[in-house]
Amino acid sequence: MASPLPKHPQLRGNYAPINFEAVCQDLVIEGAVPEGLAGSLYRIGPNPKFVPDQGYHWFFGTGMVHAFHVNEGKIDYVNRWVRTPKFESELAAGTSLPMSIVVDPETGQLQSDRRNGLANTHIIWHADQLLALEEGSHPFTLSPKTLDSEGYGHYANGLSGPMTAHPKIDPITGELHGFGYMSDALGSASMSYHVVDQQGVVSRSDNFTAPFAAMVHDFAVTRDYVLFPLFPLTFDFNRMEKLGSPFAFEPQAGAMIGVLKRGDPISEIQWIEAPVCFVFHYLNAWNDGEQITFDAIDFSVAPNFPDTDGNLPGFTEAQGTLTRWQLDLATGAVERTPLLDLACEFPRIDDRYAMKRHTQAFLATASQRQRGDGGLFHEVTHLNLESGATQVWDAGLGNGVSEPVFVPRHARADEGDGWLLATVYEATSQASSLVILDATAVSQGPIATARLDHRIPFGFHGSWRANE
Ligand SMILES: [Fe+2]
Repeated sequence: MASPLPKHPQLRGNYAPINFEAVCQDLVIEGAVPEGLAGSLYRIGPNPKFVPDQGYHWFFGTGMVHAFHVNEGKIDYVNRWVRTPKFESELAAGTSLPMSIVVDPETGQLQSDRRNGLANTHIIWHADQLLALEEGSHPFTLSPKTLDSEGYGHYANGLSGPMTAHPKIDPITGELHGFGYMSDALGSASMSYHVVDQQGVVSRSDNFTAPFAAMVHDFAVTRDYVLFPLFPLTFDFNRMEKLGSPFAFEPQAGAMIGVLKRGDPISEIQWIEAPVCFVFHYLNAWNDGEQITFDAIDFSVAPNFPDTDGNLPGFTEAQGTLTRWQLDLATGAVERTPLLDLACEFPRIDDRYAMKRHTQAFLATASQRQRGDGGLFHEVTHLNLESGATQVWDAGLGNGVSEPVFVPRHARADEGDGWLLATVYEATSQASSLVILDATAVSQGPIATARLDHRIPFGFHGSWRANE
């Protein structure tokens, strides 16, 4: 018999999981789906089937995928759990099970099981496969229409260690660049750099040692360089008893950015000292010779994690700021400039501009954030980085928007000329919808809203795959 959810801030409201899988055909749509928009929006997030009585963290819930299939003005919806071995074991046991940790037979050290993870963080399309990603594991393949689980090892079979949920796909070569952290063992400073070719075959997988062991959620790639920014969300098993988490923000550990020229041997990686702060996500990066620019959502500390004394971030510290980083490789100088005076996260670009200079940014923002709102973003914002102009659509205070995913109007459309797709949680009706916005006229609001009868719990990331 299933039990009620434990009382926990990350299990309340729209953080609470839903307990079903569904197929909804031909959703009711207000407005009209734009002609020419045909494909699937995939979203993923934590949605545990079983929740531990104690020690739950939003980041550690089993992944559920939501797909909106858009075709000829109609939209179908399907949601499925990602059936990792851990999920299947929990289903068989009828209860939540701990993270799957294995002992390395050669070193005796502990590491996460690469093929028994949570698959809850990002969902992307690469090498003709739909991949659910989570940073401690390998990519997990799903069927693109039905979301049936196909499993680990169908993609990048030769990966030696874990792979980030934020790999970067080179729009010119079709290659995917990724990395892993704590690749050898939990708590170790070992990291890895992976390249997977457009057929899904690992073409490069190199190990290196970072200055210290930390959680590294995302990274940045330009046409010529790969950047591995390292912020002090450090790891120590001994913190578990006192803090309830092995990860804690430890500013004394400093911050470093590893820089590697693409194609150079991993031994050429150069570490540059950086200001101490915390970043989960990067918008994009480019370089002009040895001048590297990247845009990031900066936090003064690591949100959602304690410091080494167990103090959780205050309200102001937990707000992210879109910030431009400029790095001079010749001198090692790093400069930061805030770009937007709005609490924000989940930054996206027009992906055709990945790794080169971008001028348009799309974000989830919260101009009216309130204490106790659970980190809700209630707006979709377009920022023109050349003019500084913003366009904002407010979904309504108390409602929550997801990361906005950009879809170009057609293959040769200008940068930022297209649509934004996001899911919206409406608090009063306890239901979610898919909204389609004109990316060039965001403040005019949705041009189409496809309504579900249920809510999609707050999740992390998503992608668009155009129909062929
Ligand atoms: Fe992320």
